[in-house]
Amino acid sequence: MWTEKYRPKSICEIIGNEEAKVAIVKWLKNWVPGNEGFLLWGPPGTGKTSLVQAAAHDFQYQLIEMNASDVRTEKQISRVMGPASIEGSLDKAFYGYRGLLLFVDEIDGIFGREDHGGMAAIQKILEVTRVPIILAANSTQREALQPLIHCCQVVRFQRVRPPVLLALLKNICRLEGINAEEGALEMITEMSQGDVRSAINDLQSTSSGAVTLRRENIAGLFARDRPANISETLNSIFAAQTLREAKKVIDESDMDYESIYQALHDNLPFRFRDPEALATAYDYLSKADICFGEIKKTQDWHLLSYALELMVSGIVLAKDSAKENNHFHFPHGRFVMLGRSRATRSLLDELAQKIGFRYHVSKRTATEDYLNVVKVIMLNHPEQKPKISEQLSFSDEAQSYLEG
Ligand SMILES: Nc1ncnc2c1ncn2[C@@H]1O[C@H](COP(=O)(O)OP(=O)(O)OP(=O)(O)O)[C@@H](O)[C@H]1O
Ligand SMILES: [Mg+2]
Repeated sequence: MWTEKYRPKSICEIIGNEEAKVAIVKWLKNWVPGNEGFLLWGPPGTGKTSLVQAAAHDFQYQLIEMNASDVRTEKQISRVMGPASIEGSLDKAFYGYRGLLLFVDEIDGIFGREDHGGMAAIQKILEVTRVPIILAANSTQREALQPLIHCCQVVRFQRVRPPVLLALLKNICRLEGINAEEGALEMITEMSQGDVRSAINDLQSTSSGAVTLRRENIAGLFARDRPANISETLNSIFAAQTLREAKKVIDESDMDYESIYQALHDNLPFRFRDPEALATAYDYLSKADICFGEIKKTQDWHLLSYALELMVSGIVLAKDSAKENNHFHFPHGRFVMLGRSRATRSLLDELAQKIGFRYHVSKRTATEDYLNVVKVIMLNHPEQKPKISEQLSFSDEAQSYLEG
């Protein structure tokens, strides 16, 4: 497997998630008994496990890994983690390592189980441990991590951005002697939605045995129905009659709230034709965004419930004017952009620059967040086109691209 062959050995080989890398280094360097644990959580395939392994390697810790889904009950956890966390210092001299580093992966295997004892056992061990402990969760719901945030430094892992991922794929192609046709790697990057593992797997499966990787080889992968789950989630949110119902959809969805937020953000203009309704929905979404920001800053996760409520409030309130349309648009504009031709890219670049200038946002934000909205407004309200074009001083070419 190329994912194993190219698993990063050192922290500097991990792509993306710069903040998480800095945080783990600081935490590990300064760790003394009595300090809190370290909890990494985020979407699959983004390098959480790899980062912990690389950190152990770089700082010469002997890593003791366990998977929480294998040891669930209080007894099992205490039996496995207990001795390692207490006796770690004895092993230090013996192995020539700086010490032991305990890593409990997939801790979400314990969440929501009937045996709540498992979580309590981990909390207790975190309090008394003589060795640093790192936990990783592939969790979609931040709320589930609540019991651990008081005894851990919590760090969120993000999906890896397309340009960084693309560079990694190019490098693997170079090392494997594969000549990738222009656009082929961009397609893989686009589909992976920031999941490095699935991007590498897709690269391996599409290029196996071939020297040249063509775009046609990739096309077959598109048939895979990635957004099914998010589509279902979005449909249920739009169908909810009450706020409570909409909130329940989020709680029960497999998708993490950031993905739901992003998907709502991208799809609102397709759902609401009435500008007032659209504005209401976006207004609440932006309040939710502020709330998410506040949570990130203060780590006060009690606010999450309010943030999620805000995220869907506008949709429930504006529901009456929702279009009868359950077709959603994926992936987000940011991923689609990469696959386009060079000419189109330079047009998009112009649009992003002008939108960014007018609304005082970065080009990236303009591309990711604004461009789609402008395009859909022009599509739904042709009468607004001249006004928008004038405000943003688009060239004729850019305008006709948007209309197309
Ligand atoms: N940030 C990254 N930089 C380089 N390679 C990565 C990165 N993330 C993932 N990979 C590749 O994908 C493989 C799987 O990554 P890893 O197991 O670290 O992901 P994870 O975040 O722990 O996923 P999960 O949530 O499913 O446990 C690695 O072996 C490596 O090849
Ligand atoms: Mg992992």
